[in-house]
Amino acid sequence: MNILVIGGGGREHAVVKALKKSKRCEKIWCLPGNGGITADCECFPIKATDLDGIVAFAKEHAPDFAVVTPDDPLCMGLVDRLEAIGVPCFGPRANAAILEGSKVFSKDLMQKYGIPTATSRTFSSPEEALSYLKTTTYPAVIKADGLALGKGVCIAHDFSEAQTAVREMMVEKVFGASGTRILVEEFLEGPEISVLAFTDGNTIVPMVSSMDHKRAWDGDEGPNTGGMGTVAPNPYYTKEVAERCMREIFLPTVAAMHAEGRPFLGCLYFGLMLTREGPKVIEYNCRFGDPETQVVLPLLESDLLEIMLAVRAGKLHTVDVKFSEKAACCIVLASRGYPKKYDMGYEISLPALEAGEEIYIAGAKREGEKLLTAGGRVLGAVAVAEDLASAVRKAYALAGKINFENAYMRSDIGARALKPRT
Ligand code: AMP
Ligand code: GLY
Repeated sequence: MNILVIGGGGREHAVVKALKKSKRCEKIWCLPGNGGITADCECFPIKATDLDGIVAFAKEHAPDFAVVTPDDPLCMGLVDRLEAIGVPCFGPRANAAILEGSKVFSKDLMQKYGIPTATSRTFSSPEEALSYLKTTTYPAVIKADGLALGKGVCIAHDFSEAQTAVREMMVEKVFGASGTRILVEEFLEGPEISVLAFTDGNTIVPMVSSMDHKRAWDGDEGPNTGGMGTVAPNPYYTKEVAERCMREIFLPTVAAMHAEGRPFLGCLYFGLMLTREGPKVIEYNCRFGDPETQVVLPLLESDLLEIMLAVRAGKLHTVDVKFSEKAACCIVLASRGYPKKYDMGYEISLPALEAGEEIYIAGAKREGEKLLTAGGRVLGAVAVAEDLASAVRKAYALAGKINFENAYMRSDIGARALKPRT
């Protein structure tokens, strides 16, 4: 089969490498891909948000199947557009991708169907939001309704911080139309767990759990980023927690989307917090997480393409989805200064890989033989090992062998997961 993959980050590199292992995979095109992904398949510089460009490419090359991973094209309806010209896709249609595209939609859905989440109120006028925020308890969590590159969440510790967030989101519109409505929600506490799950709209099969490290600096300090590293499995996701999530969150979510006439086909990402009262949904994403995918897919022992085709065919219950019992760790190497200002264009030198090691390129471009940094998150150094402690050690050893000027990584990825639980 000839497959079209949309996206160009470390997540897509991991998806391309996993698809290539399938017996049925003959050819992959990646749009736009990046300077690292070109080592694994053909890349063309068509942006993931250029829906017309992608549709034209698909008409010309007639792929047998497409895999759409980034949030923007999913929410903009790329799957609908590709399916309309006869290209079957892995990924939700726009009417289901709204689970990530609108936090107001997903909060209303969870409230309607009794899915555990933070209590919350929605506001469409800054005056009303501010008058509520004068009397609420702090910290309070303020969220822009729409997509905001993972930056649309503010944890306000007092009214003055809340006021700034409301002004930025609703008045100055720093996230554009995404801030037309905002949510003010209860602050939850507890370890966070990411669970990616395959679902065909009826059956749901969770993948191995993972833990992201969203803040830029050690000790979970500094600004929020797309994710500075991940480990899998997440030790807080015990068998009991998993069963409870399945019963109280996963199955009810799939059923709710079905009942709303918005069947979700693709990868559904549950951002969970394990509170004293049990697991609660922090957010849904309508896609694979980045860098969660970089630790989850290396542990997948089944054929990713077979699973994706079964999802599209509504036959997920007929395929085997098996994960290794091993552990994985991904250390993100970023350009120093990310997620704010940083310099790019430095040459990257990569070591030869040994068994159990992977390097997924996220932000790099190729210039002749050279690979140059071209983004905030440059790459992920991934190791798979018998246990989490060894995976973390191996991933750091691999990261230590990668060189480029201005490289920055956190030094405590996995530390919280390895700490004895309290
Ligand atoms: P999100 O973009 O929705 O993933 O939120 C970014 C981060 O904000 C999450 O990973 C959490 O650490 C934090 N967060 C979001 N909602 C809440 C909440 N209700 N209580 C505490 N922390 C939250
Ligand atoms: N790593 C978080 C995300 O993909 O949204």
